[in-house]
Amino acid sequence: MATIYINGEYLPADQPCISPLDRGFVFGDGIYEVIPVYNGHLFRLEEHLDRLDNSLASVSIQTSLSHQDWHELLTDLVKRNGSGNQSVYLQITRGVAARDHAFPNDIRPTIFAMSNPLKPVAAVIHEQGVSAITLEDIRWKYCHIKTIALLPNVMLRQQALEAGAVEAILVRDNEVTEGAASNLFIVRDGTIITPPKGPVLLPGITRDLVLELAQQAGIPWRETSISPEQLKTADEIWLTSSTKEILPVTQLDKQPVGSEPTDKPGPLWQRMIAIYQDYKQHYPDQ
Ligand code: PDD
Repeated sequence: MATIYINGEYLPADQPCISPLDRGFVFGDGIYEVIPVYNGHLFRLEEHLDRLDNSLASVSIQTSLSHQDWHELLTDLVKRNGSGNQSVYLQITRGVAARDHAFPNDIRPTIFAMSNPLKPVAAVIHEQGVSAITLEDIRWKYCHIKTIALLPNVMLRQQALEAGAVEAILVRDNEVTEGAASNLFIVRDGTIITPPKGPVLLPGITRDLVLELAQQAGIPWRETSISPEQLKTADEIWLTSSTKEILPVTQLDKQPVGSEPTDKPGPLWQRMIAIYQDYKQHYPDQ
């Protein structure tokens, strides 16, 4: 049985420990992070904690945990669950109170963390890529906040799965924003392009790392908005996230991706995934 952390205690994962009046349960009033762990090391932890701080500030939830406290708590949790490669999920909700939309006074946030084995991406996905469909971005206007209120994302991902795809690529006001649970990149004429950060998308940690690694490798990149037409005519399409790393999309809306479609991930993806794996392997000793 896996061990979880809840409000200062480590408990077996199946132990009931959250009040049904928790505002996370009743309102989806909380925020979260997902952090990959490789060889027992929390990958890009500082970046995840900075984003956590931003999400907390955006929804006016305060905790007394410093980055050092988080580091100790999560390292302990990872060890209790056997180290190796894991995916840490942490969630902070506003806390427990009688149901009322307004923020209650003197409420204590509920702090929860769990960690599960991180499955490597299947080899066949790296060999053949995945398929995606485009859907209207039906989410709210604060997509930069990593809120636990994920019903639109859940519905969009499900719609993609039911259409035989692995991800929904979202379109809002004639611009492509991101995936239901991933950021989006396209490649055109050797340049990597991703939409700029803003309220329409989550500032992905993997997204930023891909740009950082591209910069170091001298691969041209640009942050600029992408139209559905540009997506359709891209040479390559990638999706990034902490758990899936960089996924090559080889089919979009049932059509092959690229001007010379080969049903294989493109050359720039091949290069970037190799750079990414190398960085991971040497982390944190860069
Ligand atoms: N999701 N955009 C959305 C809407 C996401 O939910 C995620 C990640 C990303 C990628 O962010 P990052 O590179 O920091 O993981 C972009 C996580 C993995 C999840 O909800 O499980």
